[in-house]
Amino acid sequence: MSIYSSMQKSNKRKIEEFIRVDHAGERGAIKIYEGQLLALNTIVRNEELKKTIEHMKEHEVEHCEFFEKEIKKRGIEPTKFLPLWDLLGLGLGFGSTLLGKKAAMLCTASVEEVIDEHYLNQIKEIKNDEKSLRKKIEKFRQDEIDHKDIAYDEGATKEGLYSIFDKVIKTGSKIAINISEKI
Ligand SMILES: [Fe+2]
Ligand SMILES: [Fe+2]
Repeated sequence: MSIYSSMQKSNKRKIEEFIRVDHAGERGAIKIYEGQLLALNTIVRNEELKKTIEHMKEHEVEHCEFFEKEIKKRGIEPTKFLPLWDLLGLGLGFGSTLLGKKAAMLCTASVEEVIDEHYLNQIKEIKNDEKSLRKKIEKFRQDEIDHKDIAYDEGATKEGLYSIFDKVIKTGSKIAINISEKI
């Protein structure tokens, strides 16, 4: 195989990994919000917070649908861990909301901080042959940054014990990213 064609191949594999992990992440984001809404529809009452979360969830659905289409179009296998991420996302969303509004919003802020960086890394690596994919990721990244800002406006904080929660979520998200790229 020539150097050029092996470079092409590794580039293609990289793009496939990007789409696989982004699909998993966006689906995870939907699940986190679903978990939060579940808590808000049962145990915790906060109509304002519910509206905010529903609004952000709409973006995640749009993001996820895009990657879902790309997966089908390009014949990429989704990560095998989807059922586990679904479960953990739901649990994280539900649990964080039971702890209160600050924890629920910190959950969004922490995840979005990881995703902001994650998408930025991808944007830097995607070449012009995948311009439209890059444009989409740039748009989605801006949505995630908006979510992070909303979360801080709504009371997310890293003070005291919340800083531990932040680190746990970030570490968990990074592990999920590393796994979902490959498997
Ligand atoms: Fe998203
Ligand atoms: Fe988001």
